[in-house]
Amino acid sequence: MAEVLRVEQITKQYPGVLALDDVSFDVQSGEVHTLLGENGAGKSTLIKVIAGIITPNYGKIFVQNEEVHFDSPLDAIRSGISTAFQEEALFHELSVAENIFMGQIPSHMGKINKSLMIERSADLLKQVGLDTVHPDIPVKHLNIATRQLVQLARAFLNNARVLILDEPATALTPHEREKLFQVVQKFKDQGAGIVFVSHHLKEALSISDRITVLKDGRKVTTTPAEGINEKQIVHWMVGKEIGDIYPAKEVRKGKVVYEVKGLSLLPHFSDVGFQLHEGEILGIAGLMGCGKTELAQALFGRMEPDRGLIKINGEETRVHNTKAAIDKGIFLIPDNRNEALYLSKSICENVSLPAIRNYSNGVRINRKKEIEDVEELAGRLKVRAVNVDYHVDTLSGGNRQKVLIARGVFAQAKILIFVEPTLGVDVGARSEIYDLIADLSRNGQSIIVISSDVPEIVGISHRVLVMHQGELKANLEGDEISEFQILNYMVSRQEEAFRKELTLN
Ligand SMILES: Nc1ncnc2c1ncn2[C@@H]1O[C@H](COP(=O)(O)OP(=O)(O)OP(=O)(O)O)[C@@H](O)[C@H]1O
Ligand SMILES: [Mg+2]
Repeated sequence: MAEVLRVEQITKQYPGVLALDDVSFDVQSGEVHTLLGENGAGKSTLIKVIAGIITPNYGKIFVQNEEVHFDSPLDAIRSGISTAFQEEALFHELSVAENIFMGQIPSHMGKINKSLMIERSADLLKQVGLDTVHPDIPVKHLNIATRQLVQLARAFLNNARVLILDEPATALTPHEREKLFQVVQKFKDQGAGIVFVSHHLKEALSISDRITVLKDGRKVTTTPAEGINEKQIVHWMVGKEIGDIYPAKEVRKGKVVYEVKGLSLLPHFSDVGFQLHEGEILGIAGLMGCGKTELAQALFGRMEPDRGLIKINGEETRVHNTKAAIDKGIFLIPDNRNEALYLSKSICENVSLPAIRNYSNGVRINRKKEIEDVEELAGRLKVRAVNVDYHVDTLSGGNRQKVLIARGVFAQAKILIFVEPTLGVDVGARSEIYDLIADLSRNGQSIIVISSDVPEIVGISHRVLVMHQGELKANLEGDEISEFQILNYMVSRQEEAFRKELTLN
């Protein structure tokens, strides 16, 4: 195997944080090399160094054994390094074709050759299985999975010798994941080296040739994936064993506090009905695209249903906008963290925002108490930051997610809806989030957890509804709550093959 990329002794210091400390790493032609580590361990920072986005304080980069210096992302792309970023980096207002060709739009004597660009884009989209996506449509109309694949189409354009994927599969359905890995395989077959980042340890082990574990900015180990198990990886990542990540279930069924009847919003979902009890944790499982995200939006007043009714404490009510939802004690923690957070505001402001009136006596805000409370929660969730005054845009992906969860806890809503609560969160913090959710329920708050992570739904829910193609298909309680049962309802016949694969895992 030939080496396609090597970095030596990379060091990156941010104010107050040594994000990378003397890290060396290499990738061979035709291999998948996965980077693992806790939230904030330095994975994305290393990738940004390799992609020419940030300059390290120290260290060298070699592409095919030749030292290179990157002053911009375009330099890295020209050296054959293509990246699909974690906090996705496409320009939403621009078209698919413009995004693919960003920085290298074909022109002749100063005039853009649009038809060539469209034609080439269509070709590249076909390569990544997006035959039906027109190169002319704006990226904002595409879902997350498709945007990921557009980033790969860009990699094909540049004939990538090194393909980097930072948590690509986090938000994808099994089918989309499969599609993505097929495309990755094409790059492998062409002799490219793949750098992969993931919190999905099982998947990482199954697709990797080698793994490298980072901890607190330092490299712990690089080793062949074969013969390694998840437990060993967790030990390297966290420095200790982690037992069962799910808290013991204390199923409670107080009075019905919330009820939805015949709720429809076509084409997303139809005739949805369920009850929610006081102190209950109700899981709603379903694949991406089954309508569960839109259902969450509708429950929070962000989208208006075509028909149906909502009752709170037995009384019919209208939730026509988010303010109405919040006033009625409903709060939503959505899955699109970078849109939901104020990236250029502090952790503290982001967390306490919905609860700020609890810190005010009408005249002034008790800042000291506010900061204390945020600090305590951030500590419990292990938000990795110098202090809570730090801006959210300096946090790693998983730590941003923790800030969003903290906001939900702060909201003190009677009914809390979490959508994909542990997206990109490492194993340790994941277990803290589940403990927190269990505490909220013990506190009498009612929780809806909407997720495509089936083990998560099984691990924390008192009761489970399964959504498929816009309809609720099952209401599972007690022993009925199992991965097998949920997948049975979640996945249709065409997706049978993936179900098999999922249950095997
Ligand atoms: N622009 C910045 N300013 C200050 N600190 C930063 C900045 N970018 C990253 N950091 C810090 O560097 C450390 C490493 O972050 P990085 O994004 O590399 O983590 P990660 O391993 O990718 O984590 P995750 O799994 O959550 O994505 C974190 O402590 C983060 O807060
Ligand atoms: Mg990251």
